[in-house]
Amino acid sequence: MHVVPGLKVLYFGTPVVLVSTRNEDGTANLAPISSAWWLGQCAMLGLGDAARTTANLLRERECVLSLPSSALADAVDRLALTTGRPDVPEKKAKQGYRYEPEKFAAAHLTEQPSDLVRPPRVAECPVQLECRVVAAHPFGGPAMHATAFQAEVLRTHVEEDLVVPDTHHVDPDGWDPLIMKFCEFYGGGHRLRPSRLADGWNMPHQRPGGERTARTGTA
Ligand SMILES: Cc1cc2nc3c(=O)[nH]c(=O)nc-3n(C[C@H](O)[C@H](O)[C@H](O)COP(=O)(O)O)c2cc1C
Repeated sequence: MHVVPGLKVLYFGTPVVLVSTRNEDGTANLAPISSAWWLGQCAMLGLGDAARTTANLLRERECVLSLPSSALADAVDRLALTTGRPDVPEKKAKQGYRYEPEKFAAAHLTEQPSDLVRPPRVAECPVQLECRVVAAHPFGGPAMHATAFQAEVLRTHVEEDLVVPDTHHVDPDGWDPLIMKFCEFYGGGHRLRPSRLADGWNMPHQRPGGERTARTGTA
């Protein structure tokens, strides 16, 4: 039997992508997103308009998409509830966001120079895609305040162990992407660690026995 729960969040599970962009002063910004999908050598990225990443992508028209494995859940969680914007938007401040100018250091991640674009790669990520932005579309209507970016992949770097020898293909058994599902971190089908993003969004708590319950004052 199906029910109609009026879902508040439709994050059914997608790989986490770390988007590096260049700030106006030449430093790097880094933001986790999970609204990303791929077709051919292009990616579509969904970003809220309040993010510094959005402004950087519109101005600089380039980025690196670094894909963390599930082993990097702690690093990604350190970036949750941070923004590269010094003027933290009011809505984000209420969710617990803080300004973080040094995203790589805050996450304990390492900048690695790119070959073709100015933003750096994330050295610890097994897959890194250097991209240029080819289009930006308003997404979800005016109330949504979001932009869908079309990015063309210019060069893909893959950890050698993950490439099937003598082919141009990733070994799907070896690649264990970090998945974000309803604001929680998953890898290999299992929940990995508590998620600060889930706190910021007031997602249902999980009791030690595994049962999920609404937070007090939320539904
Ligand atoms: C795991 C994870 C996934 C996220 N997915 C998205 C997303 O798909 N789109 C988005 O706009 N923000 C997403 N966020 C929130 C952004 O990271 C957040 O808006 C951040 O402040 C952007 O940083 P910036 O302002 O420095 O660009 C996600 C956060 C986490 C931790």
